Amino acid sequence: MKSSLLAALLITAGAADAAAQTYPTKPVTIVVPFAAGGPSDAIARILGDRMKATLGQPFLIENVTGAGGSIGVGRAVRAAPDGYTISFGHLGTHVANQAIYPLPYDMLTDLDPVVLLPSNPMVVVSRNSLPAKSLQELIAWLKTNPDKASAGTAGAGSGSHIAGVYMQNLTGLRLQFVPYRGTAPALTDLVAGQIDIIVDQASNSMQQIRSGSIRAYAITDRKRLAVAPDIPTVDEAGLPGFYMTLWNGLWVPKGTPKEAITKLDAAVVEALADPAVKKRLVDLGLEIPERDQLTPEALGAWHKAEAAKWWPIIKAANIRPE
Ligand code: MLT
Repeated sequence: MKSSLLAALLITAGAADAAAQTYPTKPVTIVVPFAAGGPSDAIARILGDRMKATLGQPFLIENVTGAGGSIGVGRAVRAAPDGYTISFGHLGTHVANQAIYPLPYDMLTDLDPVVLLPSNPMVVVSRNSLPAKSLQELIAWLKTNPDKASAGTAGAGSGSHIAGVYMQNLTGLRLQFVPYRGTAPALTDLVAGQIDIIVDQASNSMQQIRSGSIRAYAITDRKRLAVAPDIPTVDEAGLPGFYMTLWNGLWVPKGTPKEAITKLDAAVVEALADPAVKKRLVDLGLEIPERDQLTPEALGAWHKAEAAKWWPIIKAANIRPE
């Protein structure tokens, strides 16, 4: 091989290696596929703030909304695989949407996993003026208003939509789903009485539940939330088996240097071990994964398993893009 070409290749490899060693050398962007102020945005901002302390560069949040989060994920998939663009998502955006939308990307092969993030049980909430005091009364009222009772979602395929469809299938309800660009704007309309219910992430509704501006009926989990022990589980409230916990994660575009993935993962592990960060997340009702689950490999395996589990269910539910 000509010596000049070899020299050039060595220089390039050297440069890439140097870049990887010193990563990050500029701000890193986390693309959140839902509106600011919502549950996904809150988790990304809490972690981003702490990751800055570890990696010495700001973590900027870019909210790219629409189509149940699939537009924001597409933005991240198309980004340069250099470690400076991260895709934030969850069961809806990184699993369900592939079974709903004709996406120009493949979630399992166009993204590399970084780390699993805290998960969120869902809570059934309604506007305060709705004439129901228990989940049973709520279901009865919703049944007397078929196709009229409105349920706010963050778009087809979003966590609040999947949970709403799941509740519909379990109860025989017929809800009118009202799509928003995130559950933050949906919650604003619920407080204002513009829509009837949301099956929301607990972390998003917790503050409004505590302030009494919306009513909570049940947590979609087997156990009550430590931070809201007064809200019954779905089993206690009479809709046994309506279990749904929304897990979250971080991914990067396929081909991002391993060193960058390792550093991002380590920064999240450090953030989740920080008592102040932990308290903020737990106070929102979030559950922090075990340490051995906080590796890129663990997220990769979990992602594949969840896709295999949910795609047939989502396809059978015949959910259509908005
Ligand atoms: C949001 O941040 O708005 C949510 O993650 C939306 C959802 O999936 O329900």
